[in-house]
Amino acid sequence: MTQEKLQQIKARALGEIGKAADQNQLQNLEIKYLGRKGELTGVLRTIGELPQEERGRMGNFANQVKQEITAAIGRAREVLGGKSGGLEKEWIDVTASKSKRSLGHLHPISNIQYKLEEIFSSMGFMVLDGPELESDYYNFEALNIPSWHPARDMQDTFYVEPAYRQAGEENLLMRTHTSPMQVRTMEKYGAPVKAIVPGRCFRNEATDARHEHTLYQMEGFMIDKNISFANLKAVLEVVAKKLYGEETKVRLRPKFYPFVEPGVNGEVTCFLCKGAGCRVCKKTGWLEIFGAGMIHPDVLRAGGIDPARWSGFAFGFGLMRLVMLKYGIDDIRLFCGGDLRFLNQF
Ligand code: DAH
Repeated sequence: MTQEKLQQIKARALGEIGKAADQNQLQNLEIKYLGRKGELTGVLRTIGELPQEERGRMGNFANQVKQEITAAIGRAREVLGGKSGGLEKEWIDVTASKSKRSLGHLHPISNIQYKLEEIFSSMGFMVLDGPELESDYYNFEALNIPSWHPARDMQDTFYVEPAYRQAGEENLLMRTHTSPMQVRTMEKYGAPVKAIVPGRCFRNEATDARHEHTLYQMEGFMIDKNISFANLKAVLEVVAKKLYGEETKVRLRPKFYPFVEPGVNGEVTCFLCKGAGCRVCKKTGWLEIFGAGMIHPDVLRAGGIDPARWSGFAFGFGLMRLVMLKYGIDDIRLFCGGDLRFLNQF
């Protein structure tokens, strides 16, 4: 055992440590030189066999070499940092701040929809869904709007070309309102029946601040014995009060809708000025928020219900309009535009 041999081991070890490319290689070098069967360990073990006078000097020198190699490995570990194999791979920084994931929120249209669903459910109305791709029959014909009727012009929509329909399928179109669920519901449940139908509708519009091709409505109807206009007004008054406060009044004025007779335009006291007249209600004190009427006998018949025995009322809300009024939103296109600067305000 000579000092040169230790020098050689040290030089070789430091050289290899300097070239180590990752933590794995360092670990192997540590085992190779300092491990239980490592080269340096082997040498240290033989020191005990040296003659007494050499033992102390060689022991000191060998320990010094061991410290130098250990220190070199330690330094190399720091330099190589994350380039690791083994344990270092699983290292996590528990002090790192985690990226914040913000919780989303409901779209303002969903909000008003759920609120109305709650009010109507509390009065015993079912909440129903209907198909967005609807037949000409349920969307128009069954609602007293034959193909030659001028009322078709008010609700132009997107029709499905015959070439894209399956054999035997009816004329299909994107529903223009959720009213088609009136006859579908009558066919399925008969009378008496109470239901609301929230949902997405479509119109072939040249879009602008007040017109959108995709809109949200809520249809509602109630059919029973002796249902009259008084019931219609009573139910809608409850809804208006729950939405806009106890002092709210409802005003009904005649308006034509082919599927009701008589038909009305429903207005409520302006929630902003309480009827005094302001910018939102255009100085009238009233907000026009729904269409309604007594279900036309033809429509009841289409649904298989005898108009001599039963009567009913129906109404329709534009959900977007309710939200626009509430928040003073002046462009309907913002709702489906997906602009977060708009949506995050709710
Ligand atoms: N469906 C009508 C529309 O989209 C709204 C409506 C008006 C529904 C009067 C009704 C009603 O049930 O009675 O413009």
